[in-house]
Amino acid sequence: MTAYPKTAALMERGAAFLGSEYAIMCGAMSWVSERHLVSAISNAGGFGVIACGAMTPELLDAEIAATAALTAKPFGVNLITMHPQLPQLIAVCTRHRVSHVVLAGGIPPKGSVEAIKAGGAKVIVFAPTLALAKKLLRSGGDALVIEGMEAGGHIGPVSTSVLAQEFLPALATDHLVFVAGGIGRGEAIAGYLEMGAVGVQLGTRFACASESIAHPAFKQAFFRANARDAVVSVQVDPRLPVIPVRALRNKGTEAFTAKQREVAELLDSGNVEMIEAQLQIEHYWAGALRRAVIDGDIENGSLMAGQSVGMVTEEERAAVIVDRLLAECEAALTQR
Ligand SMILES: Cc1cc2nc3c(=O)[nH]c(=O)nc-3n(C[C@H](O)[C@H](O)[C@H](O)COP(=O)(O)O)c2cc1C
Repeated sequence: MTAYPKTAALMERGAAFLGSEYAIMCGAMSWVSERHLVSAISNAGGFGVIACGAMTPELLDAEIAATAALTAKPFGVNLITMHPQLPQLIAVCTRHRVSHVVLAGGIPPKGSVEAIKAGGAKVIVFAPTLALAKKLLRSGGDALVIEGMEAGGHIGPVSTSVLAQEFLPALATDHLVFVAGGIGRGEAIAGYLEMGAVGVQLGTRFACASESIAHPAFKQAFFRANARDAVVSVQVDPRLPVIPVRALRNKGTEAFTAKQREVAELLDSGNVEMIEAQLQIEHYWAGALRRAVIDGDIENGSLMAGQSVGMVTEEERAAVIVDRLLAECEAALTQR
């Protein structure tokens, strides 16, 4: 018997799909979503997802094994589609009988969805437009995450509330849709469930859980921050593309803007080739998230965070956060 019957009823399809008690996913966060946080979320009745990021197949192999040693519950693995060793990473997931693979960071390359399914796992995809979502669901995607620009990390241009209105009425009857981006409390979860979502995905709200290995300085920066501190990276020059990332404003974000100006001037004066200039911009942030999460360099590292960061005020166990979200959701549904 669940303590949250209304919530459980609306999450039933999502929870059955994930194999978890509740359809609350903790979105993969590079460097943060490793064995400790992932197992804690799954043990709490949610669904943890390992962030593979730039890991080698050997590292992913070890991370999955270590996570499985900490939880008997299902968890997923998030793979970035442009990883040069994607096929080998998929093979590692298959060998470990990982139940769910989340494909992030772009359109899945040909054959990848098929390879995951042939290995027995379910495939969760992201799609920025309704047309692409339909295509991915037609060609093997088992569930979809829509993620609005309130989210932390790499983002698209559209807000969660608008994506929810565009995607849920069109897809929710026949497909499994999870909503992500800007969710900090259960009342918002209730709203998206009522619109037809089968579950939700949160990142920022879980990043500072007690079980998260993020550096204490990283967590303190989250506790201090307000929604308006989680800003999108600025592109200074149309010739130098910047993939939008939402992170807490710090010295590093300002220095990045200055760096773009400097490279643009080098381009103007003919002192650097276009390819070299674009590479300089692309590589600027390499390793920056690790510097903040692991080393605690909150001035120069990348403090990726969503706008819900203002609702993250103290370190709590993952189980406490999951339980609070469920209680808030249930109370909201009961008051309706
Ligand atoms: C620090 C951080 C790192 C992230 N890294 C990844 C990643 O490696 N892969 C990915 O698909 N999403 C990544 N995300 C996005 C989350 O998985 C999740 O979708 C997002 O945080 C949900 O929005 P919210 O932050 O508003 O809760 C990251 C988010 C944060 C805050």
